[in-house]
Amino acid sequence: MPLHTATLIHREDGTPWSPDFDDVYHSADGGLAQARAVFLAGNRLPLRWAERPLFSLLETGFGIGINFLATWQAWRDDLARCGRLHYFSVEKHPLSLADLAACHSRLAEVTPLATELQAQWPLALPGWHRLYFDEGRVLLTLLFADVAQALPAIDARFDAFYLDGFAPARNPQMWNSGVFRHCARLAAPGATLATYTAARVVRDGLAAAHFSSERLPGYGRKRHRLAAEFRPPAWHPAADLPASTPADAPVMVIGAGLAGAAVAEKLALRGHPVTVLDAAAGPAGAASGLPAALFHPHLSPDDAILSRLVRKGLLTALRSWEALEQRGHGLTCSREGLAWHAADAAEERSLRETVERLRFPAEYMAFLERDALRERCGLPTAFGGCWFAGSGWLDPRALVSAQLATAGISTGYGARVERLDRHDGIWRVFDASGGLLAEAPVVVLANSHDAERLMPGLCRLRRIRGQLSRIAAALPALRCAIAGSATLVRLGDSLVTGSTFDEDDVETLPRAADRARNLAGLRRLWPECVLPDDGDLQQDFVGFRASTNDHLPLIGALPDLAVLRAQGLQWRGRPVAELPRQAGLYGAFACGSRGLLWSGLAAEIITCRISGEPLPLENDLAAAVDPARFVLRNLRQGQLP
Ligand SMILES: Cc1cc2nc3c(=O)[nH]c(=O)nc-3n(C[C@H](O)[C@H](O)[C@H](O)COP(=O)(O)OP(=O)(O)OC[C@H]3O[C@@H](n4cnc5c(N)ncnc54)[C@H](O)[C@@H]3O)c2cc1C
Ligand SMILES: C[S@@+](CC[C@H](N)C(=O)[O-])C[C@H]1O[C@@H](n2cnc3c(N)ncnc32)[C@H](O)[C@@H]1O
Repeated sequence: MPLHTATLIHREDGTPWSPDFDDVYHSADGGLAQARAVFLAGNRLPLRWAERPLFSLLETGFGIGINFLATWQAWRDDLARCGRLHYFSVEKHPLSLADLAACHSRLAEVTPLATELQAQWPLALPGWHRLYFDEGRVLLTLLFADVAQALPAIDARFDAFYLDGFAPARNPQMWNSGVFRHCARLAAPGATLATYTAARVVRDGLAAAHFSSERLPGYGRKRHRLAAEFRPPAWHPAADLPASTPADAPVMVIGAGLAGAAVAEKLALRGHPVTVLDAAAGPAGAASGLPAALFHPHLSPDDAILSRLVRKGLLTALRSWEALEQRGHGLTCSREGLAWHAADAAEERSLRETVERLRFPAEYMAFLERDALRERCGLPTAFGGCWFAGSGWLDPRALVSAQLATAGISTGYGARVERLDRHDGIWRVFDASGGLLAEAPVVVLANSHDAERLMPGLCRLRRIRGQLSRIAAALPALRCAIAGSATLVRLGDSLVTGSTFDEDDVETLPRAADRARNLAGLRRLWPECVLPDDGDLQQDFVGFRASTNDHLPLIGALPDLAVLRAQGLQWRGRPVAELPRQAGLYGAFACGSRGLLWSGLAAEIITCRISGEPLPLENDLAAAVDPARFVLRNLRQGQLP
């Protein structure tokens, strides 16, 4: 479902009003004051977060973000503030950036915070968007979706709730038993809840969901507001809290490619001492050693799981690369757009229809007819196609080096891990002669195909050889990166094109025949193009993609295969998230042809899993990349791992 941004009108007294809901966004007596009196005070904040490592809060209705800004300001002003504040907020109709800025211009008290929020305000794309403030200690996760879809997709525990839909009579979707039931499902022990309304439907709904509420004097013209406490029923899975590892616990990452470097960077930024081991002589010594990798959205008419995951990975990667650049690391890349050319009229029609149906912002994707696409990319393509603004290409080697330069990371090369085991809560890894290479309470396997050897029974990985060709030709007309049936990137005075895709082909050296295939692909894209082959095979890159049967990576906590073998088939009817896990063992591998995107996502997911924090993505997306999914599929067919 496409998102519709909010329509908003400023009333004469300046209060923003929604014509669609015929209601104001906040009290006419002051939005910030209302936020403090109703939402913060109603949840006994800042007192309740004092000295806690983590405090999580869920809001229904982000609107202008006034409650968020007031909460963030209170957190900043509080000397006893919690270590990390997770603020989740559901919003079906995000404001345009211009409307957001106009509303914020009336909030002089919080201008610096509002400016930071505007600087990170996401495009109006469905799904979850996580923004980081104050060195990542304040995390805002915006759930751009209808509340009825957003709440069931959360798998986390919240210490406080802000219910802030429009008035219940005008916006009943935000105040029904489903919403209240999900608040109960998501409530942490001792959770509290606050709202500006004391309408009967809200009081009764909260009571039915085990929140005991109290009517208190309302703010401004409102007679009453509600403050509530969660009183868990016996069945509530309060004990079921995610395990967390201390932020200073050492972590060992096996593999210094895109996946390992991204995970190591993120964990080091959180304060973990990280050791990265790799069998190769230096970083990016395997598949991640290619000179240019493309990144762009994936399209499907129904915005399928893969398209949503790619979008999540892409937006996550773009934010993390920007943060890396802000920390002074130069990346060799272009984010100035990528043209996806249709191979034939049928693909052209399908792309046009899909883009029209999805109605995503043009800053993310647009359909261009043939002439417009030709103009945009500088090549005489035969058909139209997609223009992915903000997409492009990047040199993974520079990215990996920059990530591994993060303070707190130490690297060890020429260190092939032959086996690992766990004793007394510590993982140890050994080389081929049985020598101890390193030890740590937490290990992340980011060693691509070789993870299958270290975790026999987990899944079968496919090995797909790819050769990318680099030719000495500048092609000055080319204006952007190209993808589709052939890919093309200008890299200095040369062009990079390819790549081949051959399963179970073990040749590690470049082959002339594969170079010829790559150039033939380019000529199909652009028949008049007569690029001379300089025949310099030395310039070609060969790498091996690790891929799964469902083409998705394995990211997250690794299952405890010994328990699953011993306890037989009792787990087969359970959701994948419930399968038992190996303490302190995580995986980020099988990145297939999308290492750039999956590695950034892996870093986010694994960091949250290790620290026991709310995940940055919907539970169906987390399940789609869960490393236990193949074991579960086999169990359902009666096979033990
Ligand atoms: C020709 C080609 C073109 C591609 N184009 C793109 C593209 O355009 N966009 C894109 O996003 N992706 C692309 N990819 C895919 C991308 O390169 C991979 O998905 C990505 O590099 C995988 O990263 P990784 O860290 O998982 O694996 P690798 O980069 O393979 O890293 C794994 C590391 O683990 C180490 N290791 C393995 N076993 C052990 C062990 N036992 N002990 C210690 N170390 C070990 C290895 O030495 C290696 O350094 C392409 C791939 C190829 C081959
Ligand atoms: C009163 S405003 C929220 C004000 C906001 N908390 C603030 O601090 O600025 C209510 C918000 O709920 C959103 N909303 C309404 N119906 C929704 C639904 N079904 N799902 C998700 N959000 C919804 C509206 O778009 C609006 O932004």
